[in-house]
Amino acid sequence: MKPQEILPRVWWVGALHPDMRIFDDLFPTANGTSYNSYLLKTAQPTLIDTVKGKFGDQLIANLESQIKLTELKYIVANHAEPDHSGSLGKLLERAPNATVLGSKPVGIFLKELLNRDFPFRAVADGETLDIGGMTLAFVVVPFLHWPDTIFTYAPELKAAFTCDALGAHYCPKGELWADCNQDYRADQKLYYDCLIRLYNEHVRKALDKVKDVPIEAALPSHGPLLRGECLARTIARYQEWSAAPKKGAKKLVGVVYLSSHGNTARMAEAVADGVRSAGAEAELCHWSEKSEEEIVSLYERADALVFGTPTINRDVPPPMWRTMALLSASALPTKRVAGVFGSFGWSGEAAKLVESRLAGIGYKLPLESVRVRFTPTEADLAKCRELGAGLAGNLG
Ligand code: FEO
Repeated sequence: MKPQEILPRVWWVGALHPDMRIFDDLFPTANGTSYNSYLLKTAQPTLIDTVKGKFGDQLIANLESQIKLTELKYIVANHAEPDHSGSLGKLLERAPNATVLGSKPVGIFLKELLNRDFPFRAVADGETLDIGGMTLAFVVVPFLHWPDTIFTYAPELKAAFTCDALGAHYCPKGELWADCNQDYRADQKLYYDCLIRLYNEHVRKALDKVKDVPIEAALPSHGPLLRGECLARTIARYQEWSAAPKKGAKKLVGVVYLSSHGNTARMAEAVADGVRSAGAEAELCHWSEKSEEEIVSLYERADALVFGTPTINRDVPPPMWRTMALLSASALPTKRVAGVFGSFGWSGEAAKLVESRLAGIGYKLPLESVRVRFTPTEADLAKCRELGAGLAGNLG
């Protein structure tokens, strides 16, 4: 797509990537993506974010069709991740008079990404800059979704350059502005869940920070550009998706399990009984009966988690690894308490592996795991009840 003036003196100079199907080798995207880069054609020409490295030549050609690269005064790096900075090194070679602006962490990250020195100036939260007939204001919004992230706001245009936030891996088809008749909510939600959800608390803080800022256009670094009804819908979705989990009157313990032959399931029931006997609420979660969204929701609502798994081929079965992998995509509570149980037949390594996984992401395991060979006896089930009651009693 050729450069386009999307707002007065704001030119889209990015790149489209419609055939991308796995973003960053991590996340699926059914509709490709875009790397939105914006040139502000003022007396001090300024670029907001660059594009992924493989599209660097395209970015440079787009810029050269609008300005002489030696005239480029500033490159604002809202965030350092290589899909926005991968072409920065190449651009700096051609734009020797440009100074990179960004948060202090962006400067540190970029220098280690490029492994070279370059003109950089850190901007402070609330700082403004006159770029020759247009003002830029910098708003620090850490963890949306890296610690380095800022928004750049152009008050005269009521336009916010929001980098990854409010974006989507969805390649615009013909028109850069979002079309409310071709809603891409599912792509926005998948992107949110993969990249942003983990930082829900920071999303809430950022939304609160800008709630009184008049924004008529949000210009993210991926996907369609937002204004009018499409912008209002997206903001409403972010408010909904980032909302703090609703808490019940009682503490909640989630009992998440996989059971090939019913033995670990019986242990799960006993753990849940123990939780209830201690006055807390237990929610059983048999992984194969729940969606990933339901599992993540439980991770975020629960005050403690107990994982039950058999051992298969001396390992945790793959679906249970996947279920536990969802922990790192969840907005987990700061205080993390967990327990482990499971039936096994031969060697029973799974419990130790699960303990290690949980400890690695900050869970405390105050009670010994309950491991049972084959069918749990009444005495084994009593230990499971003790595990549940003990964890519930640990929640304070
Ligand atoms: Fe689109 Fe966090 O990079």
